[in-house]
This record gives sequence, structure tokens and C-alpha cells, in this order.
Amino acid sequence: MKKDIFPQSIASGYAFCNRSDERKALRSHIDRINHTVLVAPRRYGKSSLSNQVAGEWESSRRIYNKISLYSAYDEKTALELIAKGVQRAIRKMTSGFNMDEFKALLASLSGIGLNASLTTDGAEFGISFNFDGSGKTAAITLTSLGELLKSMDEMALKEGWNILFEMDEFQQIGGLETGHAIEAQIRDAVQYARATTYIFLGSNRHLLEQMFSDKSRPFYNLCRIIRLERIDASPYRMHLQDAAQIQWRKGLSDEANDQILTLTERHPFYVNALCSRLWAEPQPPTLADILPAWVQVVDEYMPVLRNDFARLSATQKAILSQLAQSPEAYVTGAEFLGRLGRALSTVRDSFGYLKSMDMVYQTDGKWAVMDPCLSFDLRHQR
Ligand SMILES: Nc1ncnc2c1ncn2[C@@H]1O[C@H](COP(=O)(O)OP(=O)(O)O)[C@@H](O)[C@H]1O
Ligand SMILES: [Mg+2]
Repeated sequence: MKKDIFPQSIASGYAFCNRSDERKALRSHIDRINHTVLVAPRRYGKSSLSNQVAGEWESSRRIYNKISLYSAYDEKTALELIAKGVQRAIRKMTSGFNMDEFKALLASLSGIGLNASLTTDGAEFGISFNFDGSGKTAAITLTSLGELLKSMDEMALKEGWNILFEMDEFQQIGGLETGHAIEAQIRDAVQYARATTYIFLGSNRHLLEQMFSDKSRPFYNLCRIIRLERIDASPYRMHLQDAAQIQWRKGLSDEANDQILTLTERHPFYVNALCSRLWAEPQPPTLADILPAWVQVVDEYMPVLRNDFARLSATQKAILSQLAQSPEAYVTGAEFLGRLGRALSTVRDSFGYLKSMDMVYQTDGKWAVMDPCLSFDLRHQR
């Protein structure tokens, strides 16, 4: 079977490179029930990190439960997605229950106004929440969300379980009409959790930061923040060497290795995009093989990137073009303004927008273009 050492989606097992500090930090947060938000630009490896650490943590009485809120387009779908996550955890914790224990559980849930009923399907029975109001019990409502999460935690505590509850694309909640009310319900459960650690992720860094760092929002000061940067060069070099050994039982030349990391600027998504091409060949790549493969990667991703670029203002485009040529420490400094030929206030606003959209990032104290394909394309003006 072909090994997927460079997946497009979550990296795990031997596809997962290092991140030892972040792994340690996240693991210790989980063990101490310190709720955590993972903050990084999209495709930096938040889901992979969480999945990796959770996989190491998971065991017979520890449940890793993840939901993605990307499709939470209104209050009802958001509640449903979260409640289904709770339902899954409760089903797991009650998988050894007999009928009497189930009935006692149902009674305790209805005691706090929750709406669950017993489902039987042949020999199996389990608990089921009502989502659409069509069953015998009332549908899950916004005001019962906090209680629902709390009852899951109480059950875990009572029955000797631990739960890791991951909510991906959490910024979606903030964008909903009743978003702040949903946040308040979740906050209520999170702050009292004793057997459940919550992890929040999201692909919109700007919105996520606002939810967790704005004093007026329910999640302010509730969670530890782990920020992910790009993976360091030296573990990445070793990772590529190991990958060459796995694939060909041969080493990779230092020049080829460096060239891969230079062109992709160690952006994990693009390292994988480039390497999955190179690793499909029968032999390890030589230095000369890498640039042509990278140009193919750039050609593959540029149509979307070009569209995003086209929507920017002239000043924003000028800033990105300059940063693609050479990263700059002082984007509002006289020298850079002179090069752009634009006024300070315009540049400051434009740059603020590029930052909020994660189109630029800081590396070695200098601002550079976030996307290595766009950066390469702007530099080569093809
Ligand atoms: N630690 C890692 N080692 C190797 N590749 C990684 C690592 N983390 C992420 N990747 C790769 O980067 C890309 C984005 O990862 P993902 O976890 O989906 O990021 P995010 O959740 O931040 O959007 C995927 O191709 C994934 O395989
Ligand atoms: Mg993700």
C-alpha cells in the first residue's frame, strides 16, 4: 500500500512532524482541565496537533469527542451539532448500562429540564436527544445548552471518565445572530467543567482572537491560548530525511532538503503539497527536480490566490509585492513608505487589513507574504 507521508488533511503518525513544545503544552492543559484555544493561520496544523495529542491521551476511560461547526449557519444547526457531540459522549459512557441504569439517567436528565428519550433498536438501547421537536419530548433549546454540557461533565465525573471536547471552526458561533448567547451558554458549562477539557480551534484567526481576547465577550480569559508558528527548520529537515528513508530507503541530499524548505517557506500545507509530488517518484529528488515540481504546485494553487489578490486595493497589492521581494521589519518606516510612494495613513490601514486577513506574517522580526505560492508568483512576475 502507498504510504501517505504528506497528507493534504490531518497529519498523524509518521506524517506528523515534531511540535514537541506545543504538544507538551497542550497535553499538560488537557491533564489539568485547562481549556485551550489553538490559534494559528489556516493550514498551519491546528487540527493535526490537537488530533495527535488527543490520540496520545485517549484511553479506555477517556473520550476524544470532536465536532466541527463549519456548517453551523444558524442557531438551530449550531445547537444540533453540539448536542450530537454530547449525545455521542453520553452514549459511549453508557455503553455498559443496563435498562434500570438508563432509566435513572433519563430521570436525572429530565430533572434538569433536558429532553432525552430512550431509543431501542433490537438488543441495543441508548439515549437520544430530540432536535426538531417532533418527538415526545421538547426539542433542545438554546437555554438548555449549558445544562446539557454540564450534565455530560457530571456524568463523566460520576462514572470515572474524562472527556476532551474539541470544537473546530468555533468562530462560526461568533458570527451567528444569537452567537453571544450561545457563547454564554457554552461558557457556563466550560467554567464549571471538572472532568471535561474543552479545546477550541478555528480557521479564522482574527475572529477567534476577538472571541477570546475581547473583554466584553463571554470567553474572555476563560482559556489558555496556544499559538502555532511554522515548524522549525531543523526538525523539518529530519522529518524529510525520515520520509526519504521510509519511501526509498535512501537519504535526501542536504541541498534538496534545503530547497524544499526554502521554496515552501516551511508552510506545512505547501511542504506536503510539494513533497507528495516528489515522493511519488521512484527515486529521491535531486536539487534540479525540485523547482519544476514547485512551479507545478504554484500553478495549481494560483487561480484561487490570484482571485483573492485581485480583490485587494492598489496599496494592499503594492505592499504584498514589496514584501514578496524582500521581507520588511518597519512597514510604516520612511524607507518602506518611500518605496511604495504612498502616505503613512493609507499604508497603515492597508497593512492592518492584510494582517487581519492573515495575508502577511512575521518571520525573524520581519513581515513577509503568508502564502509561499503567492510570494513566489509575485517575485517572479510570471
Ligand atoms: N506537525 C505536522 N507535521 C507535518 N505536517 C503537518 C503538521 N501539521 C499539519 N501538517 C499538514 O499541514 C496541512 C494543514 O494541517 P491542518 O492540521 O489541517 O491545519 P489547520 O487545522 O491549522 O488548518 C495538512 O496538509 C497537514 O497534513
Ligand atoms: Mg483544521
